[in-house]
Amino acid sequence: MCGIIGIKSSDNDVIKKTLNCLHHLEYRGYDSSGIAYLDHDKIKIIKKKGRISDLEEKIDFSCETNLAIAHTRWATNGKANDTNAHPHHMGQVTLVHNGIIENAAILKKELEKKNYHFKSDTDTEVIAALLDDMVNQTHDKMEALKELKTKLVGSYALGILFDNDDALYAVKKDSPLILGLDTNSYFIASDVPAILDYTNKYIVLEDNDIVKIDTTYHIYPEQASRKIHHFTSSYSLDDKDGFAHYMLKEINEQPGIIYHLLSKYLKNDLIDLPDLTIYQQIDIVGCGSAYHTALVAKTLFEEYSDTKVSAYVASEYRYQKNFYSSNSIVIFISQSGETADTLACVRQVKEKGIPSLAIVNTISSSIARECDNVIYLEAGPEIAVATTKAYTAQITILSLLALKISYQKGLITNLDSIKKDIRHIKEVLIHLINDINYIKIAKKIYQRRDIFFIGRLIDYAIALEGSLKLKEISYIHSETYPAGELKHGTISLIEDGSPVISVITYDKIIDKTISNIEEVKARGAYNIVLTNQNITSKAFDYVIQIPKVNAFLNPIITIIPLQLLAYYVARLNGCDIDKPRNLAKSVTVE
Ligand code: G6P
Repeated sequence: MCGIIGIKSSDNDVIKKTLNCLHHLEYRGYDSSGIAYLDHDKIKIIKKKGRISDLEEKIDFSCETNLAIAHTRWATNGKANDTNAHPHHMGQVTLVHNGIIENAAILKKELEKKNYHFKSDTDTEVIAALLDDMVNQTHDKMEALKELKTKLVGSYALGILFDNDDALYAVKKDSPLILGLDTNSYFIASDVPAILDYTNKYIVLEDNDIVKIDTTYHIYPEQASRKIHHFTSSYSLDDKDGFAHYMLKEINEQPGIIYHLLSKYLKNDLIDLPDLTIYQQIDIVGCGSAYHTALVAKTLFEEYSDTKVSAYVASEYRYQKNFYSSNSIVIFISQSGETADTLACVRQVKEKGIPSLAIVNTISSSIARECDNVIYLEAGPEIAVATTKAYTAQITILSLLALKISYQKGLITNLDSIKKDIRHIKEVLIHLINDINYIKIAKKIYQRRDIFFIGRLIDYAIALEGSLKLKEISYIHSETYPAGELKHGTISLIEDGSPVISVITYDKIIDKTISNIEEVKARGAYNIVLTNQNITSKAFDYVIQIPKVNAFLNPIITIIPLQLLAYYVARLNGCDIDKPRNLAKSVTVE
C-alpha cells in the first residue's frame, strides 16, 4: 500500500505538481502524508497525520523548487501519526517507501549499536539509516544503492534524496514503480494515473532497477531494453462527472464497460478469448472482491459449462499445498494487478511451469506482465476504494470464458440468443442503476448494527460481494451464509427487525431458500428479497425485482442493486464513501 511520487524538473513549480500527483495516489492509503523538497540547498520535510488536504495547510506553495518526493500512507509498521508519516530522514538520507521490510527489527538492532537513534516505529526509517550507513562506508551512493538489495528482505519502492545532491534516486523490488518522462520533468510514481496530468510517457521499472535523475534519467544496470509506453486511455481521473462520489460515478460507468466487453468478444464468436477446454484443472485466485468473482465463475463454469473449477483466496493459496497436473492452468484476477498475495501466487505458479492467465484492469501492472497471457478489463482507472466496475468487468470476462467452453463443448449450439440479449443489457443495467427504491430500503436499514445476506450457489457468491460492499463502506457488521447454513448457529443473532437480504436468481432451488426466509421471519427478521423470479411469500417484507436474463449475464445484473444499497446506506450514515477507514485500494503488502 502507500503511494510514492518524486519529481525532478528543470522548472521550479515542483511542490504544486508533486502534491497534485499525490492526490491521485491517495486511494493507495490516506492515513497520513508528507513531502520533502529542496529549499535553498537544504532538504525540508513536512508531514502530517490525516488527509493530503491537512498536509497542504502546512505547505508554503510560494517556495520554488525543482526537486521533491512525497508519500501518502496506509500504516503497516507503527500507527498513523506525524512521526511515522514519510518521508523519513537519517544522516544524509531522506526517503519515501512503499512496501514492507521483513527484517527491519534485526537491522534496527544492528544500526542502534552503530549509534543510530530512531524516532518512529517504521521499517522505513530503518532503510534510511541503513542506506546512510552504507554510503558512509562505501563513499559511493550508487554502490550503496546496489548493495541495498543484499541487506533488505521484503518489498520496497523507494524515492530517495541525499543531502548536498540535487539528483532524485529510486530503487524497487516487489512494489510497483514507474518512471514518467516529460519534456521538462521526470517523475517516479507508484502508478501511471498519478502523472497523467503532466505526461502519458512512462517506463515500467523492473525489480532491482536503480534510477538516478539529474539533468536526464539513468537506469542501472540496464537502460537500453526498457520500453517507453504511452498511456492512451481517455478516461478522466479527476472528474466525478457531477456524481457525489467516485463510487457512484463508477457504478454508472458499468453499463458502458460491460456492453463494450460483451460486444467486443461476442462479435467474433469468442475467438479472441483463450481456449480453456484444453485444461482439466482450472484454479482461479484473487483477493477480496476479485476472490468473489472467482466464486461466481466457479458456479458458472460448473453449472453451465460442465467444467470443474476451484476458487482460492490468494493469501491462502500461496501457503497451502497445491496439486497440479500436466493440464492445469491458474487464472489470476486483480483490478490493480499489484496485490502482493496474488502476485506471490503468480510467481510460485510460474516457477512450477504451470500456465497462467491474468484478468487485470491496470495495463502493464506486475500481474499483467508476469502471467503468460492477459485479458484486460478495459474498465478505466477505478478510484473509489470499494470496487464496482472492476468487479463487474471481471465477472463479464469470466462469464464469457465460461460461455466459450459451453459453446466449444456443444452445450450451447449457437451464440445468437446471448448476442441478442446483450443489445438489451445496457438498457437493463441503466434502468437498474436509476431505480430510486434503493434509497427507500436504505432508510429502513441504515441504523441497524448487523445485516445478514443469504443465497444458494451462485446467489451465495453474489451475496458475498453485496455484503462486503455494505460493510466496507458503511461499517455495519454484515455476514453472508449459504441459505441452508444460517440455522447452524448464526440464526441466534436474528432479532426483531434484523435485516436479512436474500438473493434468489438460481431457479432450481427457490423453494428451499424461501423456507429459510420464512425461518428467519419467524424470529423477527426484516426480509429483503432480491430476485428475478416470480415469487411471493408472507415472509417477504420488501422485494427488489430484477429482470431475468441469460444465466451467463445474470450475476452482472444481480450485483447492481446490492452495490447501490451499500452506497445509500453508507451515504445515510455520513460515511467517507470513496475512502473508507482502514482500507486502501491497492494492497501491496501481505
Ligand atoms: C482491496 C480492495 C478491493 C479489492 C482487493 C483485491 O481490498 O479494496 O476492492 O477487491 O484489494 O485487489 P485487486 O487489485 O487485486 O483486485
